[in-house]
Amino acid sequence: MAEPIVVVEGLHKTFVHMGRPLDVLRGIDLKIDQGEIVAIVGSSGAGKSTLLHCIGTLDVPTKGRIRLGRDDVTGLSSAKLASIRNRVIGFVFQFHHLLPEFSAIENVMMPGLIQGRSQKDMEPIAQALLGEVGLKNRATHRPGELSGGEQQRVALARALALSPKLLLCDEPTGNLDSKTGKQIQDLMFDMNARHGTTIVVVTHDLGFAHSMPRVVTMKDGLVSSDERTGVAAKGAKPAEKAKPEKEAPPSSEAPSSAEPSPVSASEP
Ligand SMILES: Nc1ncnc2c1ncn2[C@@H]1O[C@H](COP(=O)(O)OP(=O)(O)OP(=O)(O)O)[C@@H](O)[C@H]1O
Ligand SMILES: [Mg+2]
Repeated sequence: MAEPIVVVEGLHKTFVHMGRPLDVLRGIDLKIDQGEIVAIVGSSGAGKSTLLHCIGTLDVPTKGRIRLGRDDVTGLSSAKLASIRNRVIGFVFQFHHLLPEFSAIENVMMPGLIQGRSQKDMEPIAQALLGEVGLKNRATHRPGELSGGEQQRVALARALALSPKLLLCDEPTGNLDSKTGKQIQDLMFDMNARHGTTIVVVTHDLGFAHSMPRVVTMKDGLVSSDERTGVAAKGAKPAEKAKPEKEAPPSSEAPSSAEPSPVSASEP
């Protein structure tokens, strides 16, 4: 059996707006195993992005716990959260947040350069990823010289640049035509099958959602249903665990354990 990479327990998030509390997440319990592909659906305002931001350690829950692998991220300092986030998580945001001054390929290389990897190291990775999202011939374009869907694809390539264990996507196909949306979906399944990447995708596209192995529906800050569609996620196969991994540097925030955590053991 695959180990859980995300465990959310009793998660609450309350925003205070103009002095009044707004309960956006009202007690979410969710477990996602390593190698799963999960769609999160629900009407606008249900709390999908807020949940994704909490799982991704970009936002701090008001109450409840989140474990990423064996790291309990609840209450960690922002420096430790940033370290876990950089090591483990790739994001594709609802609004892609590309850097406007940099070309597509520079945007894709950026997470690696920030981590101290060299341009020589990152460039072929970025080239290959741009090829995979169908943008080989747009590498030198800046975001303002790309269509919305092309920008979204650059954002996906950027999210994959450091081979994250966990890919969190907020409406990654929101701006795309159905053919390009299908390409993005194929790329996700491919990443999952080849690298065992766990993928969580928020989407309003119910067809897209139901092509995923698992669909979690949110309503008013709660999980209202959690269904298996029968579609297989190849990355969830236990055989993935047999793959030898490079030894990870010791992680100060990882609790000591005889067995590596799916999160702590991830490559930098
Ligand atoms: N920083 C904030 N302060 C106050 N309220 C907020 C804040 N962020 C989000 N909200 C409110 O929380 C609710 C949930 O927002 P969230 O972005 O999680 O919804 P969503 O399910 O992702 O919706 P959509 O499908 O429209 O993207 C919304 O009603 C929103 O107005
Ligand atoms: Mg949202």
